[in-house]
Amino acid sequence: PVIRRADYRPPAWLVPEVALDFALGLDATTVRAELTVRRNPAIDRAPLRLAGDGIAARAVTVDGLPSNAWRMDGADLVIDLPGAEHRIGIETAINPAANSQLMGLYASGGMLCTQCEAEGFRRITFHPDRPDVLSVYRVRLSGDKARFPVLLANGNCIATGDHGDGTHWAEWHDPWPKPSYLFALVAGDLVATRDRFTTMSGRAVELAIWVRPGDEGRTAHAMRSLIQSMRWDEEAFGREYDLDLFNIVAVSDFNMGAMENKGLNVFNTRYVLADPETATDGDYDAVEGVIGHEYFHNWSGNRVTCRDWFQLSLKEGFTVLRDQLFSAAMGSEPVKRIEDVRVLRAAQFPEDSGPLAHPIRPDSYQEISNFYTATVYNKGAEVIRMMRTLAGPERFRAGCDLYFARHDGEAATCEDFIRAIEEGAGLDLTQFRLWYSQAGTPRVTARLDHAGDTATLHLAQQVPATPDQPSKQPMPIPLRIALLDRATGRHAGEHLVVLDTAEARFDFPGHAQPPVLSINRGFSAPVALDAGQSDADLVFLAAHDDDPFARYEALQRLIVGHLTGAIDGTLDAAGRQAGREAIGGALAAVLDDPALDDLMRGELLILPAESYLAEQVAAADPVSIRREREALKAWLADRLADRFLALHDRAILVPYSLDAAARGARKVKTQALVYLAAGRPEEAARRAAAQYDAADNMTDRQGAMMVLCGLDTPLRAQKLADFHARYAADALVIDKWFSLQAGSLHPAALDHVRALAGHPDMTLTNPNRVRSLYMAFAANAGAFHAADGSGYRIIADLILALDPLNAQTAARFVPPLGRWRRIDPGRAALMRAELERILAAPRLSRDTYEQVSRSLG
Ligand code: ARG
Ligand code: ZN
Repeated sequence: PVIRRADYRPPAWLVPEVALDFALGLDATTVRAELTVRRNPAIDRAPLRLAGDGIAARAVTVDGLPSNAWRMDGADLVIDLPGAEHRIGIETAINPAANSQLMGLYASGGMLCTQCEAEGFRRITFHPDRPDVLSVYRVRLSGDKARFPVLLANGNCIATGDHGDGTHWAEWHDPWPKPSYLFALVAGDLVATRDRFTTMSGRAVELAIWVRPGDEGRTAHAMRSLIQSMRWDEEAFGREYDLDLFNIVAVSDFNMGAMENKGLNVFNTRYVLADPETATDGDYDAVEGVIGHEYFHNWSGNRVTCRDWFQLSLKEGFTVLRDQLFSAAMGSEPVKRIEDVRVLRAAQFPEDSGPLAHPIRPDSYQEISNFYTATVYNKGAEVIRMMRTLAGPERFRAGCDLYFARHDGEAATCEDFIRAIEEGAGLDLTQFRLWYSQAGTPRVTARLDHAGDTATLHLAQQVPATPDQPSKQPMPIPLRIALLDRATGRHAGEHLVVLDTAEARFDFPGHAQPPVLSINRGFSAPVALDAGQSDADLVFLAAHDDDPFARYEALQRLIVGHLTGAIDGTLDAAGRQAGREAIGGALAAVLDDPALDDLMRGELLILPAESYLAEQVAAADPVSIRREREALKAWLADRLADRFLALHDRAILVPYSLDAAARGARKVKTQALVYLAAGRPEEAARRAAAQYDAADNMTDRQGAMMVLCGLDTPLRAQKLADFHARYAADALVIDKWFSLQAGSLHPAALDHVRALAGHPDMTLTNPNRVRSLYMAFAANAGAFHAADGSGYRIIADLILALDPLNAQTAARFVPPLGRWRRIDPGRAALMRAELERILAAPRLSRDTYEQVSRSLG
């Protein structure tokens, strides 16, 4: 059944109050729900329809009396009600230990927890379970004291007690009306790290981060990040926290990253636990970003929620933008921007160019879990960032203020957000709305002419056809540009040019000589750009551009241009040599530049990803992409060997700390090894093993292990064994052990994956572990795209095995197989065959069915 945005109807019944009583048990939990329901006066009379999923009603009461006036309609419970307001009582029984889908109430490592977004609440009790039905919740939890010493739910704890029979209870009340997807409970043996925060208006908030006993030494960074998030949201957006309590719980079995349940955020352990021995600098950043993200949802998501799931980007796009701005403010703004763009290109551009392309506000779905995508999240953030660029930060803030004030306590739409920004910021976003309805990455062509004293910029845009959207209209594309003087490298100021037609020209007088174009500075628009610039101009920009992103981008374009020419065979020997010399010169400048900090230097040294290169060629042959990229790396390693060795020698001396200089040193240290591994493998292996042995932190150890994993050396197996033995008790680090091998450049990576699939530590019931092996593998083009199709078969077999256990996670493995249209015809046929094999399986979940059928087209 396809759900369509155009079919939205307001709910016939509202549920102002929900009271839940849980008698908790790992394999048997009884739920008594009492819903106060009120007829929506704006809607025609209709029976009360409550959604359920895999549950049965044991008993139903209406206004306190046993009732027979109900029936099941499929999974829905339907009650004919005579009046305008009633109290409905429903008892259900669930088995959390048997819930392998990890949606609804489930058991994880002996504790109980919930995940209700998007439609998990209906697996707990019958309810409208749609985000435009907001209720005040009162929750009573009771259970065994020894097994569940800690009992948590949303809001404030208002009473606790002991039954005197080995069980105890707690009652929670959340004063803020919320949709059912924000409901949460946690029960288990947990320990808290505590702190306090005083809000800008003086409210004292108790903060607690709950983890399994033994993990409490790894919460300091998460707590610091939470406090910084709370302060930053006050300063940057004027948003204050609104309860006396803020709880975070870390859970090992979790489908996604984390969940913003009101006052009780539930997190995947990987986004909470961090200490230097087990977490890399990247992990630290991810913890900070996700802690911020979930906290910021308290306003962008909870106080103002979504009317329906088509509006998901209303909360997710906006909240991603907010977490990006937060992380930028906590660290290096340009480095953060480069990282965000790298993620967009690696994860979202392929969505936009593939069979699963959808607008940030989709028009239809079968299973909403499939739309928690890089498009809704990351492109959604880019779209709101463009509004901010158009308005400027102050006026954008005024628009946000108006949005929060106007829609507080409501379930809103993307249109509501756009209108608030229009009015609050004073913008006309009429045409801009196309960014919400049109899928596909716009292609922008830019050419700069010069005549007399005027430079003329010619721009053209084209939005490619996507499934269900054959023809597109031009969109407003804000491009920050500067014209650099060739002699001095300087410019007279930045311009914001908005391309809102298919073609346009812009004149810039006052240039006696032809300037060099710096365009899409700061990545002001999420587009694919063809600026037709010479290698010489790109080298110039890489050396002189004052916009750090543009400088990075010039270098990337230089390398992408060279590699795509090498991959598609249009580059002759002389061109290849000239390209390599140009890139080598530019990277030498990066390595030598004393004004660059190492975090930025490390960023500039990262070659464009294989997945991004694959997007740039018509029918990608993953083997030649890998070959050419590695060949360039080897050539650079050889040409710049002294510099890379010196860089490694310098960086290895910097002692561990979390400050930017030390983090930068760790980044370039492993970057140097990555290059050396391609050109000087023995030297690289020796140094990597030494770095591994000397490491006092996971960044250095993982970096060294990664380099060794790609090399043919006895040190590889030796250090892998050491790594496993050292961290055998730490699931998150064992995940890294799987990922490092599955994602390696080693020619036998596919065989390694096959062996690891049978490793005793492998399990299909833990999503982190499944992803650690199979996502890393699916992203490893050299192994996944084995010419005989065996890589595709491994992923298809995984999907089939995982689908009955955890449909949501299984469906996430379909997109790699769905890229068949952009791969050479031989492989494409093998990929299609696997998709068809999946589709032929009986009892496929709605999640996997939708992704596979869309992928086949
Ligand atoms: N709202 C959560 C976040 O963005 C994501 C939860 C989605 N979960 C799911 N099972 N679909 O942080
Ligand atoms: Zn979110």
